[in-house]
Amino acid sequence: MFTTLSPTAAVVPGRLDLFEAIETLKQELNAVILAHYYQDPDIQDVADYIGDSLGLSRQAASTDADVIVFAGVHFMAETAKILNPTKQVLLPDLDAGCSLADSCPPEAFAAFKAQYPGHVVISYINCTAQIKAMSDVICTSSNAVKIVQQIPADQPIIFAPDQNLGRYVMAQTGRDMVLWPGSCMVHETFSEKKLVQLQMEHPDSEVIAHPECEAAVLRHAHYIGSTTALLNYAQASPKQTFIVVTEPGIIHQMEKEAPGKRFIPAPPTASCACNECPHMRLNTLEKLYLAMKNRQPEITLAEELRLAALAPMQRMLEMSA
Ligand code: 13P
Ligand code: SF4
Repeated sequence: MFTTLSPTAAVVPGRLDLFEAIETLKQELNAVILAHYYQDPDIQDVADYIGDSLGLSRQAASTDADVIVFAGVHFMAETAKILNPTKQVLLPDLDAGCSLADSCPPEAFAAFKAQYPGHVVISYINCTAQIKAMSDVICTSSNAVKIVQQIPADQPIIFAPDQNLGRYVMAQTGRDMVLWPGSCMVHETFSEKKLVQLQMEHPDSEVIAHPECEAAVLRHAHYIGSTTALLNYAQASPKQTFIVVTEPGIIHQMEKEAPGKRFIPAPPTASCACNECPHMRLNTLEKLYLAMKNRQPEITLAEELRLAALAPMQRMLEMSA
């Protein structure tokens, strides 16, 4: 009987200690490993920095490493390349995309934008370099409110691509914005009904949620914020139990940073599905090791596109300093 080996199983020697091998390669390459909280715990444990999209962008902008190994999804690694044209940026699995970024194709967005002349375009960082290049300023979930508040009150705004974050920002700022109808497949799967049931089972818990969730879910949250903000809140809160309404990868850091507290992942609508991001979870420790060993897959970008996408990124970093 034949066993089908995965491509990585075929090339990573069985007895190799991946943690040690990655550490050795890190020194050899003068590499830095940047990881998002939605990565597998093993990947988080080898990372030099774990953060939300804003923190990761700041790290990418300031690193003096020669190689950036980006344990996240494609738009994040691409953002690192936009900020670092001379450094090599590696992504463990080139297919690690993002449903939200995919929900905003460049041609359709260009046509949409043309319908609203005179509007400032604010785009959530979860988008492709092409969408960034069509934007005036980029934002993340941790600075979106702050950035919108800096736009003059009489200036009309297009907000793309996440309509749920856009609605949250509108509610926080009192600003009306034209929203591109995109969303994240992971944050849209949470069930309001099951969340309310779970809250009743844990009456002393707090619900902490990411603003990519739908308004019906967010209205049950005691606290709403980016992944880093949720982590900080869980540490600081006197409560002992939290219902976490975002991708459950972050619970690894929550348990490390707030030992003894209990973190319950919020339930999805479907009875069998879980809320792990299928794109983020394409990266594995084996693929990360192979990416460093083979120095690929590498992110590359045409210089003209990079420069066009860089300007709104720099504006974001200035406006959220
Ligand atoms: P933040 O880490 O910026 O909160 O974003 C969450 C996310 O969906 C990343 O893909
Ligand atoms: Fe994209 Fe949603 Fe996955 Fe984040 S969690 S990478 S927004 S699909």
